[in-house]
Amino acid sequence: MELQKSFDTPKIVTIEKVVDETPTVRTMYFSDEIMSKVLPGQFAMVWIPGVNEIPMSVMISQENGKAAFTVRKHGLATTELFSKKVGDKIGIRGPYGNSFTVKQGNLLLVGGGTGLVPLIRLVTFLQKNDNVTIIMGAKTWSEVFFEDLANKLLEGTMHKVIVATEDGSYGEKGLVTDAMEKLLKENKFDAVYTCGPEKMMHKAVQIASANKIHVEASIERMMKCGIGICGSCCFGDVMACKDGTVFDGTALLANKEFGYTHRSKSGILDNY
Ligand SMILES: Cc1cc2nc3c(=O)[nH]c(=O)nc-3n(C[C@H](O)[C@H](O)[C@H](O)COP(=O)(O)OP(=O)(O)OC[C@H]3O[C@@H](n4cnc5c(N)ncnc54)[C@H](O)[C@@H]3O)c2cc1C
Ligand code: FES
Repeated sequence: MELQKSFDTPKIVTIEKVVDETPTVRTMYFSDEIMSKVLPGQFAMVWIPGVNEIPMSVMISQENGKAAFTVRKHGLATTELFSKKVGDKIGIRGPYGNSFTVKQGNLLLVGGGTGLVPLIRLVTFLQKNDNVTIIMGAKTWSEVFFEDLANKLLEGTMHKVIVATEDGSYGEKGLVTDAMEKLLKENKFDAVYTCGPEKMMHKAVQIASANKIHVEASIERMMKCGIGICGSCCFGDVMACKDGTVFDGTALLANKEFGYTHRSKSGILDNY
């Protein structure tokens, strides 16, 4: 009983290190044994005192017993989190949600923006003899991050990190899904994993399914409780926080909301 209570009550942690990834993205490191060991795809609810509590994927740290959040400055809560300094405190509860199924072989990871966070954690669960390709997308060169980290984590293995920028200022010009389509013309993959903007994931899942490749996506929907109570993350017949956030391609393509609708802060269904 007591264990459940502490699981769902924010635990206060201190920010120990802040790394600027891009002008709008920062990674904030803290010590926590549980968060340091979460499965790829799991998330935490992060309490920013006096502001709000928001869902965040749990980023890896290369130091034992530590984890991090990689935050993009967006609205009130993420801007406040982005502005936190070493020594500031935040609350964390979780981890919540399911995780990617760790497959072996030729694996393709397709991510955009902070959607790369669970994919980077997934990399740390893969085998040395896997052949991993990561396609990472950003609008422009100054918003590219985790390229060096991905190469470092995959050092000594057969791997490829492909960057796609929408304006062509770095790497391949276009969307990650353009790069994915190009790659699939000449390469075979055993599984595709994706996380990022839902329109992007929708396209990636369609491409993988058309090529008969197992595909999983981690869905980022509006979330308030993170534990299946409030219903704000309802997504077709499922709840993204409790039944996901990771779903397989077949389930996603059967879900009429995937890629087409999203919910507002008041729960109203709207088109993308
Ligand atoms: C599972 C999951 C993992 C995420 N991981 C990351 C991450 O690693 N890094 C990162 O920068 N962002 C991540 N996000 C998105 C992040 O939670 C939203 O950008 C953030 O909640 C927006 O809050 P805001 O106050 O800055 O913006 P506002 O638009 O002002 O949001 C205000 C309210 O809407 C809710 N809200 C708005 N957008 C979202 C959203 N996409 N998802 C959930 N709630 C939302 C907030 O909780 C808040 O209550 C993740 C979202 C989910 C669901
Ligand atoms: S966030 Fe409340 S039910 Fe999913």
